[in-house]
Amino acid sequence: MTALRLQKEDDRRPAPPPVRTVPVKGVDRGELLAQLEALHADDADWKSGRCFSLVYHASDEHTAFLKAASSAFFSENGLNPMAFKSLKRMELEVVRMAASLLHGDDDVVGTMTSGGTESLLLAIKTYRDLAKKTKPWIVFPEVVLPATAHVAFDKAGHYFGVKIRWAPVGKDWRVDVDAVRHLTNRNTIMIAGSAPQYPHGVLDPIEALGRLAQDKGIPLHVDACVGGFMLPFVEKVGRHVPVWDFRVPGVTSISADLHKYGYTAKGASVILYRNMEFLKHQFFVATDWPGGIYISPSIPGTRAGGAIAAAWAGLQAMGVEGYCALTAKALLACDQLKAGIAGIDGIKVIGSEHCTIVTWTAAAKDVDVYAVADQLQDRGWHVDRQQHPACVHLTVTANHLPVVDDYLRDLTDAVAYVRAHPEVKSRGNAAMYGMMAKVPVRALVKQAALKVMEGMYGKDGATDPAQAQGDGLVDRFVARHQDAVIRALDVLDDVAGPAVARFKQRRGRR
Ligand SMILES: Cc1ncc(COP(=O)(O)O)c(C=O)c1O
Repeated sequence: MTALRLQKEDDRRPAPPPVRTVPVKGVDRGELLAQLEALHADDADWKSGRCFSLVYHASDEHTAFLKAASSAFFSENGLNPMAFKSLKRMELEVVRMAASLLHGDDDVVGTMTSGGTESLLLAIKTYRDLAKKTKPWIVFPEVVLPATAHVAFDKAGHYFGVKIRWAPVGKDWRVDVDAVRHLTNRNTIMIAGSAPQYPHGVLDPIEALGRLAQDKGIPLHVDACVGGFMLPFVEKVGRHVPVWDFRVPGVTSISADLHKYGYTAKGASVILYRNMEFLKHQFFVATDWPGGIYISPSIPGTRAGGAIAAAWAGLQAMGVEGYCALTAKALLACDQLKAGIAGIDGIKVIGSEHCTIVTWTAAAKDVDVYAVADQLQDRGWHVDRQQHPACVHLTVTANHLPVVDDYLRDLTDAVAYVRAHPEVKSRGNAAMYGMMAKVPVRALVKQAALKVMEGMYGKDGATDPAQAQGDGLVDRFVARHQDAVIRALDVLDDVAGPAVARFKQRRGRR
């Protein structure tokens, strides 16, 4: 553990005791604000650039401004646009600003949502309901998605009873358009591509998907939750970006998150459609509720006014010039990270094109990615571990430019340490992630993950997944025979891994 971490632990005020009931007498508000401050102590250290996703920080000044904008509409509720015309107007203006950035014409319409997940849930719901009208023969609706598409689509399929067909990606991590073509059929209600996809930071071939969508008469959604407020500025600062937005004729809708590279307050995304013929299927209307006629444009009832106001104000305060300046710094940080990683023996960059995401993986047999990740974590970094293949993802912002050298130094040390100490791969998190990624029977992994969830959301609410793990037979067996299990899985991976991957590719499964 680093000096940085130890010092943080020394300085901290003790965490408040667990609360189990609402106190009878109200607690002093000043005391509670101090307790809230203390609760930050164990959180990821995002402000200093040691956390690579989850928080998008432009500057302290911009954050203070967003808080003020959000506070101005802290109490207002976007549920009823007649009561709060202000929020309705701001939502419309945010949608128009986003549409113009993404080369939409005046027919492009949309709504704000609470985030990327809601935007993707809505895309699937909208196209399912559109298909009910235009393709009445569809009883079991299906969508075709790249294997790398965001998991929120998976959630949408699960919630809305829509079958997902996963199309394989090529060696360059882009979806195989021929495979998408083969997977579409009379039941397909939508295809999608990402700009960029989260795991490896590459754009799917949206123009080719657009041609396919038009050929087949199927809507095409582009998930630009990460790229919607980043790629336009990558292009404006003079870098090449393949065309992916409303300039592609087959694109019928785009999701873009304001609370990511839009640098606005959490709880803000937009979903845009080429015209009202699509958006109208997103709306919900109930006419016979005793509470009155109820109309709702998106999933929630109550909609936080603060998130809408902060998005409206944040976009304008930043302006195109502000976004370009942040993007230029983020791109510089990416260039330096990629060059630095290329110089570290045993690891390599994968994907990471046209955008501000950098992903690295092992390039030598004796480098265990999850063990390196543990080493980085011990050096104070919040690490985003991925699987298939094991790799580490960095969502890079301007806030990371000052820490690039620190990251590369710690990464170099971490890789060297893991190569010198092969035993660390069967310890701690490395062992758990390694095992979870390799267990071939994914139902077992799902069962173990559900057990962790039960532990975390049970009556004691463990915050550490290791504590939250259940004590099922599988877990006990794995805990007792961890080393042997990992060795066996390694062998299985070497022998059967490529064959299983090829089989899955052919079946379009992930
Ligand atoms: C490509 C992509 N789509 C959708 C989402 C979901 O966004 P949210 O976490 O805001 O729900 C993410 C989140 O990282 C993403 O990367």
